[in-house]
Order: sequence, then C-alpha cells, then structure tokens
Amino acid sequence: MRLLVLGGSAFLSRAVAADAATRGHEVVAANRGRSGPVPDGVRHVRLDRADPFPEALAAEGFDAVVDVSRTPSHVRRAVSALPDAHWVFVSTINVYADDADPGGPGVGRLRAPQADDVDGAEDPEAYGAMKVACEELVRAGAVTSAVVRPGLIVGPGDPSGRFTYWPARLGRARDTGAGTDVLAPGDPADPMQVIDVRDLATWLVDLAERRTEGTFDGVGPVAPIGEHLAAAARGVGAEPRWVWADDDALAAADVRPWSGERSLPLWLPRPEYSGMPAHDAGPALAAGLAPRPVEDTARDTLAWLRATPDAEVTGLTAAEEATVLTHIAVP
Ligand SMILES: NC(=O)c1ccc[n+]([C@@H]2O[C@H](COP(=O)([O-])OP(=O)(O)OC[C@H]3O[C@@H](n4cnc5c(N)ncnc54)[C@H](OP(=O)(O)O)[C@@H]3O)[C@@H](O)[C@H]2O)c1
Repeated sequence: MRLLVLGGSAFLSRAVAADAATRGHEVVAANRGRSGPVPDGVRHVRLDRADPFPEALAAEGFDAVVDVSRTPSHVRRAVSALPDAHWVFVSTINVYADDADPGGPGVGRLRAPQADDVDGAEDPEAYGAMKVACEELVRAGAVTSAVVRPGLIVGPGDPSGRFTYWPARLGRARDTGAGTDVLAPGDPADPMQVIDVRDLATWLVDLAERRTEGTFDGVGPVAPIGEHLAAAARGVGAEPRWVWADDDALAAADVRPWSGERSLPLWLPRPEYSGMPAHDAGPALAAGLAPRPVEDTARDTLAWLRATPDAEVTGLTAAEEATVLTHIAVP
C-alpha cells in the first residue's frame, strides 16, 4: 500500500507512520518539519497545509491517507487533491455535543459544524465543531472513508502528560514502598476508558489496508476508574494505599479536573462529564481494535518517562498532593 500520513512527526500520526512502515508499506509523511523527525523507513515531504496542496504530491497517487487535522480548510484542500484514496480521518469524541451523554454516533448528537477555520488557542470550544466539519468534508469528498473518534489517547510519547501523571505518581509510590498514600479522584466505580496510542495506530493502519468504511468511537473498554488505577499500579509494581476524594473534597482543596496546573488527571466531575469516558467500544473492537492491558501501557509509559528528560507530565506536584492529602480525612 502507498500510504500518505498527513502529520507523521508527532504522537499518534507518528505511530501510524511507524506502524505502516514496519509492515512494509510505502509511507510518506507530509508536515512542516516542526514537531520532530518522521520514523525510520518513512519518506518526509515538507508541507504546510496553510498553502495550496502540492500538485506533485497529489500526482504521486496514494491508496490511503491518514489525516489528523482539525482545520477545515486544510482537510478541504487535501481531500479534493486526493479524492480516490481511502481516507482514514482521525476525529475526536469532542464532536459530541453533550459531555454527560455516553451515546455514540447518532442523529442529533453532534455539535454544529464549524466550517471556517478558528484559532484553537482563541476558542478551544471550536475544536469539536471544526472536527465535525472536517468529518463532513472527508465523507463528502473521498470516494471511501473511515472516521475514527478517539477518546483519551495514552502511552509512551504522550505530549499532554495527562495519563502520564499516573505512571509517574505510581512509580514514586513504588520507590517509597508499599502502603504509600496516593490521592485518587471521585468514586472508584466511576467509568473510565483510555486507548493506547500504539493500539490505535495499528488499528488505523488496518482500516487503511482493509479500506474499512464507517464512523467509530476509537476507545478502549469502559471499566471503573478504580480498576484502571489498580492496573496502572500493578503495571509499575506499586502497592499504594488509595485515598479517594470526591468531587466536593477535591474542589474544596482547589484541585482542578482533567489536565493542567493543580489538576488531578483523569478526574472528570460527574454528572457533567459522565459520558466522556464511557463510550461504547463495541463497534471498534468488532472492527479489529485490540487494546492492550492498562498494566502494559502504564509500565511502558513510566519507562519512556524515565528515559525522556523533557517528557511532559501535567497535574499536581508531589508537594501539592501531599498538602491536599493532609486536608482530606483518611478513614
Ligand atoms: N491526544 C488525545 O487524547 C486525543 C483525543 C481525541 C482525539 N485526538 C486526535 O488525535 C490526533 C492526534 O494526532 P497527533 O498525535 O499526530 O498530533 P496533532 O498535534 O494532532 O498533529 C501533529 C502533526 O500534524 C502536523 N502538522 C500540524 N500542523 C500542520 C500544518 N499546518 N501543515 C502540515 N502539517 C502540520 C505536525 O507536524 P509539523 O508540526 O512538523 O508540521 C505533526 O506531524 C488528532 O487528530 C487529535 O485531534 C487526540
């Protein structure tokens, strides 16, 4: 297969290019050359998608394209240049209008499309709406296509540092010994799901190879967050004592949800965000997505983190977590 990866030098799209090259496909990764090198065995073509799509690249002809863009004009230009390739478009569960609703694809569930480009830094809300527009451009413009809407993508190389907080925290708990108190968010029964970047990438290449059509939530199985964190602890060899703090206790301690400064990553206040980590993985699993155990993702993420001095980790610092723990009643 001749595969064009639009991207190919960062987290997910790089994993896609690497996976396809390892399988012996002829892979071209087109990007600006800003985010890093493309994987071994992949040909790099310099492309700024703000510019017209290069005729020479279109003339090369591709069996499939994997695109991770969030910018409608970029997708519009690329699809109209390569309409006959099988398109695998990486969207997001942020296309869904209601974060409390775990429902998957369905009429009336999506945000209104935002077909004009909007600066994501100025309007973060536009991300999901632009992805809706990008999905529509792909479906309308490509002869065949698959649209994949991932939830939280995790694993080695994650530039967001969200899931990485947990292997990092649990790695420290392992080093300090069994029984270390570790702050955990919400209720251990709260639904959670993640997808390892390597498994998602493998599946995206499968969808390209098989010319699979359709729209899927690209998510791993739903399990209680208590099970996810216990699996992460097993993966890194930690035996913590979990200290669960509910939404009110966390808010009172000025802990913030999900990501960023003073956040406890993976914490999603309920019921406002009950749907976000609870999408049905069934259709993706039936179409070949094969998620690895969270133990493996956590172990490999910690190994990557410790080997990568500039790796990103978000969330509470050790000192902030210790202060929060002193204010939370431990039974
Ligand atoms: N992380 C998550 O948990 C999550 C959850 C749901 C969905 N998603 C989706 O998953 C995908 C992640 O893709 P990703 O990890 O590869 O990261 P990304 O940040 O979406 O894309 C980065 C790639 O695009 C290239 N690129 C960016 N702007 C470009 C431009 N103007 N012209 C040409 N190339 C450009 C970058 O290379 P250069 O900078 O070198 O140009 C890089 O190779 C996205 O579609 C995202 O929306 C992510």
